[in-house]
Amino acid sequence: MADYDIVIRNGQVADGSGKSLFAADVSIKGDRIAAVEPPGTLRSDNEIDAAGRVVAPGFIDVHTHDDTALIDNPAMAMKASQGVTTVVCGNCGASAAPFVRPDIGHFLSLIVKKKENIAGSFGEFAGKVEAARPAINGAFLIGHSTLRMNAMGEDLGRKATASEIAVMRDLLDQSLEQGAIGMSSGLFYPPAMAASTDEVAEVAKPLGKWGGVYTAHMRDEGDDILKSMDETFEIGRRAGAPVIVSHHKCAGRSNFGRMKETLPKFSEAMKSQEIAFDVYPYVAGSTILRKEMLDRADRVLITWSDTVQGVAGRDLSAVAAEMDCSIHEAADRLQPAGAIYFMMDEKDVQSALAHPGAMIGSDGIPFDSHPHPRLWGTFPRVLGHYARELKLFPLEDAVRRMTSYPAQRFRLASRGEVRPGFYADLCVFDPATVIDTATFERPISPASGIDTVLCNGEVVWRDGKPGGGRGGRVLRRGEV
Ligand code: ZN
Ligand code: CU
Repeated sequence: MADYDIVIRNGQVADGSGKSLFAADVSIKGDRIAAVEPPGTLRSDNEIDAAGRVVAPGFIDVHTHDDTALIDNPAMAMKASQGVTTVVCGNCGASAAPFVRPDIGHFLSLIVKKKENIAGSFGEFAGKVEAARPAINGAFLIGHSTLRMNAMGEDLGRKATASEIAVMRDLLDQSLEQGAIGMSSGLFYPPAMAASTDEVAEVAKPLGKWGGVYTAHMRDEGDDILKSMDETFEIGRRAGAPVIVSHHKCAGRSNFGRMKETLPKFSEAMKSQEIAFDVYPYVAGSTILRKEMLDRADRVLITWSDTVQGVAGRDLSAVAAEMDCSIHEAADRLQPAGAIYFMMDEKDVQSALAHPGAMIGSDGIPFDSHPHPRLWGTFPRVLGHYARELKLFPLEDAVRRMTSYPAQRFRLASRGEVRPGFYADLCVFDPATVIDTATFERPISPASGIDTVLCNGEVVWRDGKPGGGRGGRVLRRGEV
């Protein structure tokens, strides 16, 4: 009898490739999958019975803001409870490193709660994450807005000069050398709104040299979305980098139905360029509270406010009525604050999810007092609601979009498949009951039907609570 550390017996394996479920035992030795063999053939002193369950690769949450949550909250229950074993951090232009200025400002405070968690170099930051021994893995993008703040200080309302671009490019180059996996931009947000296409394309140049990816929270996800897609694809081409468009959506009632334009445009561009996108399975988005966004939302919920207590979780319109002012005036009084915006069409969300270029990213914001339910619900919602209930795609394809496909797109080696030699990142779930339980009213709630989650061979979620495993790693560019 081979001395395996763990054997997961009698499960139905969804191996991540998208092929049909098959019955098999899966054995683990150290941090790797050792064997995948017919049921009843593998034994260990430590066995997990997976009869009636699906054994899948651990899910990869490709769009997160968990950079410092991995340090402050190393059990990462909001993600491990969904079967997520890797989070891609540093999205939307904001990363916690490299940061060389004394004041992190309002924008970065969204992802950084404690100043000691930022770091002057990516290498130093990665060391802080490792020292915290998080339960799950992190892979890290460098934010273009973060680079801008380093190079330009507070003076962000203009294009960068050639020498500032050089500073940003060098910082990116060093960070990639130290293991960051790519760069994100957030041209939609004030710190980067004034940046030109040329600026971003020039800063992004090191991506081509190191094999990094480019992710984009595009300049416009509303009326001008097609133009923004062209800009994003151009930056990818000029940098020689694969493109991932973040949280693809057509925002605002006047843009409902426009997936009919954007999805064929993606399909066409994917023929000549490496392009993909991520989606979260909800019709509401969430970010900072911005007056410019109020008019295109059907409903706005407050997620936090530093100025007015007791408003998190409430409708902005109700808060405004109580203050006896307009919602715009109320938004001013709550600043700084965060919000949820109901601004998408359900049919659009479904067609985006089902597109061959789509993978799943939660975009959850870990420090919000009343977060968007996507923080705790995204992956079980795709499996339970969209795959099982609505039959948008087969379960095996839902798993593929959460595992092997993102692993390939983000260049995460030896992850995302149930295959001998791959890392033992695994999720055992009940296909008949898996579902999200987090709601807009009660957003902090672990999913149902996720039994056991392992990361690098350690149990990180079991029977509805953290499993105690703390073997998460920093996944560095170029590692195998
Ligand atoms: Zn974003
Ligand atoms: Cu984001």
